[in-house]
Amino acid sequence: MEPQLANAAYLGSIILFILALGGLSNQETARRGNFYGMLGMAIALAAAIAGVTGNYALLVGMLVVGGAVGFVLARRVQMTQMPELVAILHSLVGMAAVLVGFATFLGGDGESAHGAHGNLSAAEKAAEKLIHDIEIYVGILIGAVTFSGSVIAFGKLSGKIGGKPLTLPARHWLNLGLLVLAVIFGVMFVEQAKAQGGGLMPLLVMTAIALVFGIHMVMAIGGADMPVVVSMLNSYSGWAAAATGFMLGNSLLIVVGALVGSSGAILSYIMCQAMNRKFLSVIAGGFGSGGGGAPKGGEGEQGEVVSVNEEETAGLLEAAKEVMIIPGYGMAVAQAQHTVNEIVKSLKAKGVKVRFGIHPVAGRMPGHMNVLLAEAKVPYDIVFEMEEINEDFPDVDVSVVIGANDIVNPSALEEPDSPIAGMPVLECWKGSTTIVLKRSMATGYAGVENPLFFKENTRMLFGDARESLEGVLKSLDS
Ligand code: TAP
Repeated sequence: MEPQLANAAYLGSIILFILALGGLSNQETARRGNFYGMLGMAIALAAAIAGVTGNYALLVGMLVVGGAVGFVLARRVQMTQMPELVAILHSLVGMAAVLVGFATFLGGDGESAHGAHGNLSAAEKAAEKLIHDIEIYVGILIGAVTFSGSVIAFGKLSGKIGGKPLTLPARHWLNLGLLVLAVIFGVMFVEQAKAQGGGLMPLLVMTAIALVFGIHMVMAIGGADMPVVVSMLNSYSGWAAAATGFMLGNSLLIVVGALVGSSGAILSYIMCQAMNRKFLSVIAGGFGSGGGGAPKGGEGEQGEVVSVNEEETAGLLEAAKEVMIIPGYGMAVAQAQHTVNEIVKSLKAKGVKVRFGIHPVAGRMPGHMNVLLAEAKVPYDIVFEMEEINEDFPDVDVSVVIGANDIVNPSALEEPDSPIAGMPVLECWKGSTTIVLKRSMATGYAGVENPLFFKENTRMLFGDARESLEGVLKSLDS
């Protein structure tokens, strides 16, 4: 393909990716945004394939294998497994950056893929080679951290590795030591790479250091901070892709990598704000205990738990003027969103005002609840962010907490020693009655006991959220 044509195609893709990001910022335009993204990727892929000279059979073979694996994975994955899937896909971006880095180093002529080095002086050529070597080094570094960090994040999100933070003694010094070593080996690499074929040893050692750094960094982050880790690795994968773009001299990869990198960084910032955490202290780790860990606080001293049945719940809802629904991870597990929508319709028909309150880290991935509610066709105009409705709880007659736990935990505000202390939560206990739907008294992701369940105005509706809600719907309609 003519380079001008390829560049025009790349420019078109870049514009489509920007439109995609714009579309995804709003639920009503998200579908269109997704379409732009898919179209941009199709054009980018076609242009990249058309630009390849050489072994087409291998290329098509790998595309078919990769496409088939992706297709099967996407079909099989449950909504509740999405965060793990995203984490493992990030690890592939990191691995690709590492592999491209080594391939460029071992197979390249030592000159930048994007340099026009025909008429350059010796000094200019040396400078260009230096830049290219640094690109390779940094690309492999970011790629390796992304790879191992994402694999650990996958393990934590899927429950294969415990959520408890690994707090090694002097862990900050360990991190600093690894960073200093990476810089020292970087200097060695650049020096040795001046000679043809030199520098492999420092490159390999740095790769090992970066892999250890990625593992240690994510292992040290506790369950409660995992939302930030998910978005941070998203950002890293973008920078890894951008670094790959520099190595290959591919402007599309550079721009798209930078888009992903910066939007992931902004998302990390938003997540930190939502959890009232400082980004640096998240990275430093040690916050939050293991998912589903032992309840804290003495049993019995909390008070009594009052349970209700489905008919009583329906009665409370019918009698209410203002209802607030608070969905959490359990709604995703139970796939209760469609039944929730039916209940909303039924209550609206009876003249009850129903709204949804969405916590920014509800579920296991950013926007998790919004996706589920959109899938069930819940109208967007009754779905509100936490900060939009948190003041309204004193006027709410009944709050229905569906499979949520950490995001409605008053100890985040009331107990300074709590592992989730400082995290803003939906203050449903300020309303007249709160009904909590869950299967048992088990803790949520952060492993913290929840005093909400013991409050005087709280009622527990035990059971699978979908089955319970189906019972409530039956009672409402009878
Ligand atoms: P959680 O605190 O994890 O609580 C979910 C609750 O749902 C559990 O206590 C569980 O209790 C209940 N549940 C599970 N399956 C159920 C079912 N089939 N029917 C009814 N209930 C069910 O969830 P949350 O309140 O949404 O808070 C999110 C947590 O995840 C936060 O700690 C957040 O930091 C973390 N996190 C978030 C993200 C993002 S980006 N959103 C990423 C990683 C981690 P039972 O077992 O008793 O039923």
